[in-house]
Amino acid sequence: MLGKLLLFCFCLGNSWVYGQEIMPIYSPNHQLRLSVVRSVAGSLTYQLGYKSKEVIGASSLGIVLKKPAVSLQSFEVLGVDTLSHNEIWTPVWGEEREIRNQYAQLIVHGKSEGILVDFIFRVFNDGIGFRYHFPEQFGFQHFIVNEELSQFRMLGDHTAFWIPGDYDTNEYTYQKTRISEIDAFSAAAKEKDIALTALIGPKVVQSPLMMKSANGIYINIHEAALINYPVMHLGLSGLTIISTLTPDAVGNKAYLQTPFSTPWRTILISDRAEDILASRLILNLNAPTSLRDISWIKPQKFMGMWWEMHVGKANWPLAGGKHGANTANVKRYIDFAAQHGFDGVLVEGWNKGWEDWFGNWKEEVFDFVSPYPDYDIDSLSAYAQKKGLRLIMHHETSGAVTNYERRMTDAYQYMVDKGINTVKTGYVGRIIPRGEHHDSQWMVNHYARVAEKAAAYRLMVDSHESAHPTGLHRTYPNWMASEAARGSEFNNAPTLGILPEHTTILPFTRLLGGPMDYTPGLFHMKLNQFDSTRKTRVQSTLAKQLALYVTIYSPLQMAADLPENYAGRLDAFQFIKDVAVDWDATRILAAEPGEFVTIARKAKGRSDWFIGSITDENARDIRIPLDFLDSGARYEAVIYRDADDADYEKNPEAYVITKSEVTRKSLLTIRLQRGGGCAVRLKKL
Ligand code: NOJ
Ligand code: CA
Repeated sequence: MLGKLLLFCFCLGNSWVYGQEIMPIYSPNHQLRLSVVRSVAGSLTYQLGYKSKEVIGASSLGIVLKKPAVSLQSFEVLGVDTLSHNEIWTPVWGEEREIRNQYAQLIVHGKSEGILVDFIFRVFNDGIGFRYHFPEQFGFQHFIVNEELSQFRMLGDHTAFWIPGDYDTNEYTYQKTRISEIDAFSAAAKEKDIALTALIGPKVVQSPLMMKSANGIYINIHEAALINYPVMHLGLSGLTIISTLTPDAVGNKAYLQTPFSTPWRTILISDRAEDILASRLILNLNAPTSLRDISWIKPQKFMGMWWEMHVGKANWPLAGGKHGANTANVKRYIDFAAQHGFDGVLVEGWNKGWEDWFGNWKEEVFDFVSPYPDYDIDSLSAYAQKKGLRLIMHHETSGAVTNYERRMTDAYQYMVDKGINTVKTGYVGRIIPRGEHHDSQWMVNHYARVAEKAAAYRLMVDSHESAHPTGLHRTYPNWMASEAARGSEFNNAPTLGILPEHTTILPFTRLLGGPMDYTPGLFHMKLNQFDSTRKTRVQSTLAKQLALYVTIYSPLQMAADLPENYAGRLDAFQFIKDVAVDWDATRILAAEPGEFVTIARKAKGRSDWFIGSITDENARDIRIPLDFLDSGARYEAVIYRDADDADYEKNPEAYVITKSEVTRKSLLTIRLQRGGGCAVRLKKL
């Protein structure tokens, strides 16, 4: 039924127009007010107020179709529905044991050009989500999307943390500028380490886009439940942000059939940066998993025959005399990882094809079932299992994704036969032969097909070079992590590397969509260990590398460095051994994008807490009140901190470990040195 219709005057763009407010809806705590308005001319807009201030100005909604060729921008309102929802659900793994999903919903049933379109809005305490829904209807079934015209109108020239819009990669360094100063092309020009770019335009960026207004309001724009639709990029027209969908190889955006719901467009809002990191809005907007048996899905810590190839000690191909994935070397990793209680060992370069895998644009490079002759997969997998861990499979597709799709059944059965239960996939290079972008609808569907098919074989997935995550790990809990951002491997990239502020921005951007395989834990910071010509180095202190296990959430965490680099520092390595990868509770203690992040987490099913605190290129003193600990209990605090003379540029590997007894009344005061951090283990006594 059509709800309350208020005729009033509102501001659209720079002009005042008359329209009807369809119905205001409030967040459960009444701090957010969403108002949806139909203008006299028929356009549908929403606007958002937070604590009585307007935060998102009147922003219009619409979709342009290519087939049928119609523009859905002027709507008749047929009716509205509202409901309120409040539930608590339990994730398979995650940052807390239980998550509250509470919102008020408004559905506006619209019609444009004879086509029925529903606008679904959900207002949570920490933000909103909205999506378009095309119900089943007579005379309209299959359609092609040309563009989505969802606007997000900012009311000030906010500070923005952004990466250039690019249909093929998200492995960029974050920029911090005013919205009006965004220049994606010149930012990308500095990124000489990224070979493949499909830049969209000077004023197009990627989501999650983090912003902060002059009056201290944090606003984040992203998407949730990206299923059967292309990735949304964000274009700018003045201060108005407009959705920009990734095209396919022939320029179309999405091929759809009714009933269909687009992904949710999300806006997080708070005057506390910590609340942005504590938000579970994106997860809440994803569908629960349909998997009944989840007993085989296990968060894990792993090591890998991996970094030694990145730093030039070994190599992926058999030819060339430096083949890393040989039986003896992998056995060395299994021994070390087993001795220190790890769950897995990733092995890259195990299969035939690496001699000519990159830039040749050939389809049939890898078959995913043919090990190199010096790699005895059967004996190694049996040996690993005898020692209580598993090998982790690597499937680099080299962008030949149709080849991978043809071979997935055999490849996954091969993993099962070999006793391997986790696969790291990779999509380096151009997607051939389709000429798709990594962010297109076809590729988005491919990543989901991998998650679904892997589940059928009880396999866990860690995808690299895939599209930005949107909370789909709720629906596919075996899709443990993705890379999908500039990860630690870029420490070895000659131009920018990983700047100290990068890991303080990731939680406000990339990580809002889901877990990242960042691969922390580097202890040896000068990367010329095996190749004296290299100038690259890790721009972080060692203590900060430990803190990342807490500040970067993932149920799949790697100890990325070489066994020999850990062997001399087993006291610091102890933190990586102890830290949990699945949590009962998370407290965001302090955070500011681009500056610092301090997070405490309680290990799943245990009474231990872990704290990670990191800073950018500035040293700072942090104060951590321990009032989250159980009352009446005593804890042993093991503090891994920067030495007094540590500095990410001059002395990155200097750390100090101290032990003390603490209670919930204690206050830790710790100095983080430049590019530094600290990690704390709190063990209940
Ligand atoms: C890029 C991935 O991010 C990296 O982890 C991997 O080693 C290489 N591709 C080779 O597949
Ligand atoms: Ca990568």
